Amino acid sequence: MAILTVKNLSRTFGGIVAVADINMEVQKGQIAGVIGPNGAGKTTFFNLLTGIYTPSTGEIIYELDRTVSNKNLKPHKIAGYGISRTFQNVRLFKEMTVLDNVLLGYHSNFKYNVLSSFFRLPAFFKGEEKAREEAMDLLKVMGLLEKKDELAKNLPYGEQRKLEIARALATKPKILLLDEPAAGMNPQETKDLTKLIRNIRKDFDLTVILIEHDMSLVMDICEKIFVFDYGKLIAQGTPYEVQNNPEVIKAYLGEEEQDATA
Ligand SMILES: Nc1ncnc2c1ncn2[C@@H]1O[C@H](COP(=O)(O)OP(=O)(O)OP(=O)(O)O)[C@@H](O)[C@H]1O
Ligand SMILES: [Mg+2]
Repeated sequence: MAILTVKNLSRTFGGIVAVADINMEVQKGQIAGVIGPNGAGKTTFFNLLTGIYTPSTGEIIYELDRTVSNKNLKPHKIAGYGISRTFQNVRLFKEMTVLDNVLLGYHSNFKYNVLSSFFRLPAFFKGEEKAREEAMDLLKVMGLLEKKDELAKNLPYGEQRKLEIARALATKPKILLLDEPAAGMNPQETKDLTKLIRNIRKDFDLTVILIEHDMSLVMDICEKIFVFDYGKLIAQGTPYEVQNNPEVIKAYLGEEEQDATA
């Protein structure tokens, strides 16, 4: 069953066509990859999926507890339906502790109402305690429990990325979008991350869509890969299929040629 359907999705910025008439489906429970050269439109695609940008044309349909079409939905609404993400440039509250960063994820998700928190009724404390416990569990899953009292800014880059994933999980997503989760990680950290993503997909019953330049991670973990180039979806398929697709090879070779002449 498709949890995400994208129809004729485009986004232009002035004269630039960042995303050009994309049609695709992601199946529930899948780990899907979005790859492509720099500037191919991958992050813009995530920004469309999460309501940060509105589409110039087309539609995004989520099959969650109900069918949600993204037309004119604000980012917090989309997040509330269970779409959570991390950012290419890590976005954390750097002066706050690791634990508090995760707790912020829960606060957007609390079940008690504003009034009970205002009057500090028992429901508030119960919620607070439960969130703390769950946040600690998440930090344990991500291997960050020992660092819970450190300031986020003092974590190495790779751990900041993991903390961002922990915070995204705290919002209890159904779909988790990761924008270059392995960026800045060494090969061993990338290997550990691959395992981690596989585990959280299973344990949290997630659909995962990830943008990544690290091909070892992508080819290892993704069941389906979508290849973007100049905003267009030029290929899709299994890792084996896209690796052997002439269009894909051409797009990547083109990039290397540009690098060589730069
Ligand atoms: N807010 C914006 N205003 C103008 N142009 C934009 C905006 N956001 C993205 N673009 C342009 O859209 C194109 C796609 O950018 P995007 O960031 O989506 O690429 P990407 O595939 O994520 O690249 P990278 O791998 O480098 O992260 C680029 O040409 C970029 O300059
Ligand atoms: Mg990007």
